[in-house]
Amino acid sequence: MLADKDRIFTNLYGMHDRTLAGAKKRGHWDGTADLIALGRDKIVEIMKASGLRGRGGAGFPTGLKWSFMPKESDGRPAYLVVNADESEPGTCKDREIMRHDPHTLIEGCLIASFAMGANASYIYIRGEYIREREALQAAIDEAYDAGLLGPNAAGSGWDFDLYLAHGAGAYICGEETALLESLEGKKGMPRMKPPFPAGAGLYGCPTTVNNVESIAVVPTILRRGAEWFASFGRQNNAGTKIFAVSGHVNKPCVVEEAMSISFEELIDTHCGGIRGGWDNLKAVIPGGSSVPCVRGENMRDALMDFDYLRGELGSGLGTAAVIVMDKDTDIIKAIWRLAKFYKHESCGQCTPCREGAGWMMRVMERLVRGEAEVEEIDMLFDVTKQVEGHTICALGDAAAWPIQGLIRNFRDEIEDRIKAQKTGRASAVAAE
Ligand code: NAI
Ligand code: SF4
Repeated sequence: MLADKDRIFTNLYGMHDRTLAGAKKRGHWDGTADLIALGRDKIVEIMKASGLRGRGGAGFPTGLKWSFMPKESDGRPAYLVVNADESEPGTCKDREIMRHDPHTLIEGCLIASFAMGANASYIYIRGEYIREREALQAAIDEAYDAGLLGPNAAGSGWDFDLYLAHGAGAYICGEETALLESLEGKKGMPRMKPPFPAGAGLYGCPTTVNNVESIAVVPTILRRGAEWFASFGRQNNAGTKIFAVSGHVNKPCVVEEAMSISFEELIDTHCGGIRGGWDNLKAVIPGGSSVPCVRGENMRDALMDFDYLRGELGSGLGTAAVIVMDKDTDIIKAIWRLAKFYKHESCGQCTPCREGAGWMMRVMERLVRGEAEVEEIDMLFDVTKQVEGHTICALGDAAAWPIQGLIRNFRDEIEDRIKAQKTGRASAVAAE
């Protein structure tokens, strides 16, 4: 179990004072100007050495991403945009940072922006996060009043402004280029990449888009050192990480732990075990709804990190939103519900996603009722393959992968339901 002294987020549960005074007592804003005095190159070097991989889901190395920003300005301003549009089903980790520990994010924005030559940063927060927005805005106001933001921010010699923008409830606005479109006041539709945002991002200017958690850990990494951060987890999967565990555990929770902790330790230490015991575990979605589910018996010894979950189990760490399902779960219906979500949230811009998401949802609907032919299972799998990798943004993949996971892991259950329906033994499971 991660020792308290190694936790970056010291107020995850809101037990302490979240105001500037409280944050300072917990070590935030301590010597910020000295950290900035390390210089751009050194900060990026430390971030690379720390091994931090993006905490928004994709796991792209953060220091490397920062290094894509131009070293010299060509006259265009540079921007840091913080993606706080936390919308991945099951994911609620950034929310805890913003409402209980907002100053660690704000301090991170200043340091990261300096390291990328940005004098302004935007935090784009999901529309439904009203309390979080209020907490964050109050903290930003406090920071301005204390001279930590604005001209010569925190006495660093760097002028820095931080703005809070809020979305209007569209999942797709969490995709980084759709988010930029939305910030610019346009309809949130993803752009083709390349160009990546570092080349042409917000208003066509060099931009880095980072997740809330990725930015919030920056001050502590710089204070305690890259080696300290890299000492948690495994090679290529470094650091501490916030996990959000929901579903059929005895005590769902959000908790910071060492990366690569085993699933069993995570659940037994922090969540009071699986409801009904380990034998009652049916399936787990280990990284938010966009990654495939895994059969329960394969999860117990799994290491909760990017490489293990993808390499060994064909799933992913994603946002580390761990959704646990016990044997009472109708897994076909659960995945149908996700298919319905992706169909609803597709922006409709590219054909495979627009048409495919609806098609997949409708077949899933019939599979829930068992009103299909067994051959359609392969046909559905084929359709997911036609969508995967053939769309502008990752939402197409995200719509395809949960269904692939279902078919790979629970084909027997789908077939049994179809057969039962044909022989009149089906339970009255109906898609709402
Ligand atoms: P991605 O792999 O396309 O990109 C990840 C990041 O790396 C982006 O910032 C991108 O600009 C950068 N990048 C990738 N290749 C690059 C290159 N060659 N040069 C420069 N920069 C490069 O993944 P994406 O679409 O940003 O994120 C997908 C993930 O987001 C999903 O796997 C899912 O887990 C997660 N997600 C998280 C949500 C949340 O609420 N936190 C919501 C929905 C999805
Ligand atoms: Fe829009 Fe879906 Fe295409 Fe993404 S994959 S751009 S959400 S239609």
